[in-house]
Amino acid sequence: MGCAISGLAAKAEFGDRTTEEAAGAAYPSEDQIQMIKESWKVIQDDIAKVGIIMFVRLFETHPECKDVFFLFRDVEDLERLRTSRELRAHGLRVMSFIEKSVARLDQLERLEALALELGKSHYHYNAPPKYYSYVGAEFICAVQPILKERWTAELEEAWKTMFQFVTSLMKKGYEEESNRQRHLALSPKERPDKKNTAL
Ligand code: HEM
Repeated sequence: MGCAISGLAAKAEFGDRTTEEAAGAAYPSEDQIQMIKESWKVIQDDIAKVGIIMFVRLFETHPECKDVFFLFRDVEDLERLRTSRELRAHGLRVMSFIEKSVARLDQLERLEALALELGKSHYHYNAPPKYYSYVGAEFICAVQPILKERWTAELEEAWKTMFQFVTSLMKKGYEEESNRQRHLALSPKERPDKKNTAL
């Protein structure tokens, strides 16, 4: 189950960051974009497998994430999940999002909009931002054996940068949606007066 992420613990690398730090997450460089795209050509043949490995590992290393999923929260034997049609479908949804993100690395605004919306939808799935960074770490562990000798420290850094970028925007979207819902829950009288707050 272990997986070395450049010798550092996944938590330190993908650790919880504040929204302020996250909002300023670095955008992948041109070289990193090229590396990610090249490696994706290899990974894409195995997306169903990677999706399943990623989520089974996520549930093993962070069992609290399993509770967020209505379909999986009562499954005790994680080995059973390896053949679950539902987990396969869920893994494919997440992997096709990653595919879209890779395709949009050249269109920053479109990628931002996509990740922001995903964060908003995760507010409604009750999936809080503190868990998002785990997914990138598990993705890296799942694709390393597929890329074999093609895996390098630079490629790992490139994928981490992309995941940090996407998850920081997801966190922003989650918080925006959470504030919006809090505002909607207030009666019109309780809502802050825009004219007053602008002063
Ligand atoms: C990099 C991090 C993540 C990405 C890219 C991601 C992506 C996605 C995508 C593409 C969907 C399909 C529905 C949609 O487009 O709105 C989805 C659904 C969902 N995600 Fe995530 N997710 C991430 C992290 C997490 C985490 C950490 C959790 C739970 C702890 C989670 C819980 C859920 C749930 C409950 C659903 C709805 C059920 C379903 O579609 O099967 N997600 N996610």
